[in-house]
Parts: sequence; structure tokens; C-alpha cells
Amino acid sequence: MTSDTADWYLRFADGEAAGRSVIYEEWARGVAADPEVLALLDGLPEQKRQPNLVFSTARLLGAPSGIWPVFREWLLAHWDAVAEEARVRSTQTNEPGRCAALLPALALVPGPLALIEVGASAGLTLIPDRYAYRYDDDRRGEVRIGDGDLVLECATAGGVPLPSAPPDVRWRCGIDLHPLNLSDGDVHWLETLVWPEAEDRRRRIRAAVAIARRDPPRIVRGDVVDALREVVAQVPDGLTPVVVSSGTLVYVPGLRRAAFRHLVRELGCRLLALEGMRVFPDLTPERVPATPGTPFLVTLDESPVAVADAHGRWLTWL
Ligand SMILES: C[S@@+](CC[C@H](N)C(=O)[O-])C[C@H]1O[C@@H](n2cnc3c(N)ncnc32)[C@H](O)[C@@H]1O
Repeated sequence: MTSDTADWYLRFADGEAAGRSVIYEEWARGVAADPEVLALLDGLPEQKRQPNLVFSTARLLGAPSGIWPVFREWLLAHWDAVAEEARVRSTQTNEPGRCAALLPALALVPGPLALIEVGASAGLTLIPDRYAYRYDDDRRGEVRIGDGDLVLECATAGGVPLPSAPPDVRWRCGIDLHPLNLSDGDVHWLETLVWPEAEDRRRRIRAAVAIARRDPPRIVRGDVVDALREVVAQVPDGLTPVVVSSGTLVYVPGLRRAAFRHLVRELGCRLLALEGMRVFPDLTPERVPATPGTPFLVTLDESPVAVADAHGRWLTWL
């Protein structure tokens, strides 16, 4: 148990935090080498031992974003509160930047569109048509699309079919097991889920929240498989229903994931996904172009079309 948790934190330090968050990398290595902290973590259900969840929950409750010994002392003193809070929370990171990675593939679907996002969190990835985009393309140079208050930037390569305008979205609905709303409390949790040093991402979230609050997208409580049929049935006639999944299916067990794909096909919807490479092992291309970091895969109707940064900072067409 304890060694599994230690391995998990070490993998997190090496594979996720290194190069992105000095603070989280140090904390994760500290946890992995600390039997007392590991024993506390092992008292949590397995999915609640997730490094990102534990660290975010601690910060939400006031943990100082400092060096490991200071964080450790705080964590031991406040463990009961952290454990209680972690049991009722989950990592619901909502990253508007992902819209920049999704937009070109979305634009390949003839509109007008109805968007149905599974795992919509607070709905910040459900409003791609309300953002502006600035692509730095390896063939065309700078390409600007749309004119919203928030400009999402993305470096593109490999002949990305950049559209000339944002998509024509006429209807939208999210589905989430635990929808977040746009209240100050939920927005504070969203901001805390962003790693300590990533102030630019927090600014982007605040700007996206301001845009979403003008006309909050509807998000129904439900599971990606169980709720989908009913939501799709509500799509007005004349719109192309596109089911979007970004950073969600990784949380859905393999058999349910297969059931979800089957259901989307059965309902006659288009399916656009931005997910980690392991999520659709059968769709992973044999050769993945060299990328600046660990790539996510963009698929349209279960065909790989691009690899992208998990937060939409770059996109390479296949
Ligand atoms: C990491 S967030 C991604 C949010 C958003 N799609 C994005 O890209 O920013 C994953 C979301 O999926 C939701 N989720 C996880 N499993 C789910 C399920 N089985 N059914 C519906 N939502 C689920 C979580 O509650 C969470 O809000």
C-alpha cells in the first residue's frame, strides 16, 4: 500500500510536476520519502490519494505554498480537515485553453452545431465560440480567429486546418457527475486546482469565468453514459450534435468508456475528444510526431487527427 502510494507520488514528481511546478515536485518527492505522511494518505480511498487532489485540497484550506518541511508540518497539523475535504472533492480542472486545441477539428464539422460536453466541470470548455484565438502557425504565421475578451494562444504545426471564424454554436449542454457552478466558491476551487506557479492559467480561468457568467451554460448532473441519451434527445432539429470530451474519459473505467463510444455512434452524434494517449489505445497512431511535451490525442469520430498539449498551448496535425 504505502509503497504503491510512494510510487504514485514519485511518478507524479517525475512525469507531471518536473519542469512545471517546482513546488509540487518537491512536495511529491517529500511525500514519497515520508512514512508518516504516506500512512495518513493510505487511510484515504485510493482515488482520493491523488497528488493533485491532496495538494489542491491542502492549499484550499490554507497550506503555505512553500518548501516541503513547512508544507509537511502544516499537513500533519491539519490532516483531519484535509482528509475530510478530499473525500468530498475531486479534480475538476476546467481549462479553457483546451478550446484552442479542439477548435480546428470542431470546425471540420458542418454547422450549425449543438455542443454536448461530457465532464463539463464549470462549462469553460463548453463555450469555444465565445473566445478569441491567436494561432502561431508554422506555415501561415499568425492567424487570429474571433474577437472575444479572452484570447487563447496556441502554436500550430503540420498543416492544421485553421478556420476563418469561430464555430456557429446554437445550443449547448454539459453533463458532469459533480457540476461546478460559477459561484465564487466553485471558482476559487477551480483556481486552486491550478498549480501554484501557473498564475497565467489562473488569469485565463478568471477571464473565461467572466465570459461564461454573462450567459452560463447549462450543465446537468449525470454520468457520461447514463445521461447522454436524454440530453441528446433535447437537441433542437437542424443542428449537428457534437459530443465533446476533454480530459474526462480518463476518469471513466474501460468498459464504460467503450459503452460511451458505442452510445455516441448509436445516437448519431459526432464525437470530438482531447484525451491522454492511454485513453484510446486502439486509436493511438503508430507514429507520433515529436512534440514539445507529453502529447494528448485529438480524435474526431474515433479517428486521430492531431496531437496537442494537454492545456492547448500547441497543436500538431497528423
Ligand atoms: C479534469 S475535468 C475536465 C473538465 C473539462 N472537460 C476540461 O477539459 O477542462 C473532468 C470532469 O469530468 C467529470 N467526470 C468524471 N467522471 C465522470 C462521469 N463518469 N460522468 C460525468 N462526468 C464525469 C468530473 O466531475 C470533472 O468535472
